Amino acid sequence: MKTNKLWGGRFDKETDKLTDEFNASISFDKNFYREDITGSIAHAKMLGKQGILTKNETEQIVNGLETILNGLEEGKFKLNEELEDIHMNIEALLTNLIGDAGKKLHTGRSRNDQVATDFRLYIAHCVEDVQTELYSLLKLLLKLAKENLETLMPGYTHLQIAQPITYAHYLLCYFQMFYRDYKQFEIVKNQSLSELPLGAGALAGTTYNLDREYVAELLDFAGVKKNSIDAVSDRDFALNFLQASSLVMMHLSRFCEEIILYNSSEFNFYTLDDAYTTGSSIMPQKKNPDLAELIRGKTGRVYGNLISLFTTMKGLPLAYNKDMQEDKEPIIDSFETVVTSLKVLYKMLETLKINKSEMLNKMKNGFINATDLADYLVKKGEPFRNSHSIIGNIVLYCEKNNKRLDELTLEELNEFSDKFSTDVYNEIDLEKIINERELIGGPSPKTNRLIIARLDNLLDNLHNN
Ligand code: ARG
Repeated sequence: MKTNKLWGGRFDKETDKLTDEFNASISFDKNFYREDITGSIAHAKMLGKQGILTKNETEQIVNGLETILNGLEEGKFKLNEELEDIHMNIEALLTNLIGDAGKKLHTGRSRNDQVATDFRLYIAHCVEDVQTELYSLLKLLLKLAKENLETLMPGYTHLQIAQPITYAHYLLCYFQMFYRDYKQFEIVKNQSLSELPLGAGALAGTTYNLDREYVAELLDFAGVKKNSIDAVSDRDFALNFLQASSLVMMHLSRFCEEIILYNSSEFNFYTLDDAYTTGSSIMPQKKNPDLAELIRGKTGRVYGNLISLFTTMKGLPLAYNKDMQEDKEPIIDSFETVVTSLKVLYKMLETLKINKSEMLNKMKNGFINATDLADYLVKKGEPFRNSHSIIGNIVLYCEKNNKRLDELTLEELNEFSDKFSTDVYNEIDLEKIINERELIGGPSPKTNRLIIARLDNLLDNLHNN
């Protein structure tokens, strides 16, 4: 053999250094060493069970791989970045360790079905980590919601003061988003582990008498791929991971946008904890919400990763093409970004102080009860469209005279409609407005107490945690 490559048999010359560097994936697929080893152990056990390897060879290989796994975890073994990828690395370590038996590991297997298997296992592990963070965040949202069932907060549409809500109701909205994310990741995990690619070989299966179902069982896959070409060319599961990641980042970025706004002196609803803010190198008064801005900013790269893999996969002829080596970095990057962002948001949210009096102030000065005033007239027999226009005129009058709705005297109100009487003041009281929104999905403390009890249950029943 004139080259030192594992595939070097038919080559006369060494590859160029640039070729090696450009071709290599070890710098990032080294992240898959656990999955690669677990996959190989299962493959070797199956080869042994089928009599393709002797009992002794199987034992040597399985023990060798276990030694390598522990050695890598403990830093006793090192990967060789000169070797193209993680698969070559592990095989080389094994052969070094146990000699010739190591060369038999790759029997009945190709790197194409191997990498597809590793990648599925890796994504399943990523999902578990993301779900752990999502779960903590969901717990925190419920805890804060419980503490703030009656904390009044202005609700916005078009970023204009709209109607009263509570801080609990606001937080529970994010609970719903992150709960959907949790469930979506569950689907991604199940899809990744639905069908095992191993046994597909390079693309056309193999003549060895492999027991694919046995390997699937060992690796926790629900079944095996029914088409060998699909087995090595399918990356839908990775795209689904990136879609779920993009969704969770979109939710995080909306939350962070509001942290940034509400923490500004213009709103002054939130005070971020010193530990999770940063200063300015020039303006001494600044306490910046950099972390929230970074999460908002990093959403862009996670969307980019989704588009990157979609574009890589577009128009690829069947079956495996080296383009598909580009599938890994988007996943690794999105995974790390999502997990860190979730951790950071948790800390910020856990420590931020809400300024209840400021939220109440904004509500009082924002005609937030105008809709309820309109509903009052409707209850007194005025058609809603007329009532809407009457209240519009009242708001205009208040603006000109610098008054709030509840500061108007009955005489002033009667200028606009004779249907107003003394009970009107009670009707536009902010707490009453909230308390009466009792329909399921509404902000009343009574309703949300009920909802929270259900959500508590839901969280207790989520598996994996
Ligand atoms: N490093 C490759 C990848 O990540 C492994 C599969 C290589 N297969 C091949 N036929 N060259 O896709």
